[in-house]
Amino acid sequence: MMYPNKGYKYSKDMSYKTSGISTDVRSGYTEQQQQQYVKYLKQLKDEFEQRWCAKPRFSITFSELDRVRTLGTGAFGRVVLLKHTKSGKFYAMKVLDKEKIIKLKQVEHTLSEKRVLEAIRFPFTVSMEFSFKDNSYIYFVMPFVSGGEMFTHLRRMGKFEEPLAKFYASQVILALEYLHFCNIVYRDLKPENILIEKNGYLKITDFGFSKILHGRTWTLCGTPEYLAPELILSKGYGFSVDWWSFGVLLYEMNAGYPPFFANDPMKTYERIVAGKYRCPSNFNADLRDLVRSTLQVDITKRFGVMKNGVMDFKNHRWFTGIEWEAILNCKFPAPFVPKYKSPGDTTNFERYEEESLKPAPYCRFESEFSDF
Ligand SMILES: Nc1ncnc2c1ncn2[C@@H]1O[C@H](COP(=O)(O)OP(=O)(O)O)[C@@H](O)[C@H]1O
Ligand SMILES: [Mg+2]
Repeated sequence: MMYPNKGYKYSKDMSYKTSGISTDVRSGYTEQQQQQYVKYLKQLKDEFEQRWCAKPRFSITFSELDRVRTLGTGAFGRVVLLKHTKSGKFYAMKVLDKEKIIKLKQVEHTLSEKRVLEAIRFPFTVSMEFSFKDNSYIYFVMPFVSGGEMFTHLRRMGKFEEPLAKFYASQVILALEYLHFCNIVYRDLKPENILIEKNGYLKITDFGFSKILHGRTWTLCGTPEYLAPELILSKGYGFSVDWWSFGVLLYEMNAGYPPFFANDPMKTYERIVAGKYRCPSNFNADLRDLVRSTLQVDITKRFGVMKNGVMDFKNHRWFTGIEWEAILNCKFPAPFVPKYKSPGDTTNFERYEEESLKPAPYCRFESEFSDF
């Protein structure tokens, strides 16, 4: 069995065979399968580390790209759709305003975002095609993910049918497993940052808060409804915060709203820290059990963090029937495929007011951004 090569530059020896290992889904994901998979993850991590240390090489240049329209906006700038004139391919370009990055004290985070984007390669994460800076802005160019944000589809559908929620949840688990294996903590999991490919599979975007982590960290960052209790309590935290956010996402996909929310973020935090939420009546016993195991305030009892790691998820009853390797290979038919007419079709994205970029006539914050 080959792991996917969806236009990503896996080297040839990244192919992986599971011959001789039972793939009977009723018996769950076996220890043996996981051991084999960890060997594959080790190869991916080696490749990640090589790219992390190497100077990136890009196959396109800025002048070959034409701006089409805005796809999203954020705290530091916007993301615009670009067309590569030579190949007809489409790209999404995140434009970050240096001045705003400085004002919000995000230079370190932005550098980390750039380096992580350059080094990661996994079926369910975006990655960097090209980066660039001018007098006023920093630019990150990624492949365009045309299906739009999970957020848009979730709000439109109200909530996801269980098979769709399972399909998405399994990919998020595999993506977090990969990132954590590479020592990357993601810290901003939420439906706005999860994009849907034209084949219906996911791509996690926005590595603005992700960083390489050995041991613990203390930075308060993320989105209120998705923050883990240990992060709110400034306890010093690790990869556990991503599994908590996964629990919030799991709940929200199935309910249509997040487990902890209030008009006032302080109230939201109080509820998170108390671990107080209620499951809607459509949650079955397996789902309730999985949510309870993930939204565990006590990190020593939280799924993903305990000694069995990701295997607690892979073998949980709610995932019965999920073939983890078929998901990884994008061989399982997606329960929902976004409408998509032609390459560069942006109907899955909201409309934003356009604004032209006006780089300053002199280089701003040159020394602060010298590593970019
Ligand atoms: N590769 C991409 N393809 C398509 N749309 C994208 C891509 N990357 C980001 N976007 C869109 O731009 C929005 C903002 O990008 P993001 O990296 O999340 O910025 P911010 O840090 O401001 O939240 C996303 O929520 C998504 O709608
Ligand atoms: Mg974002």
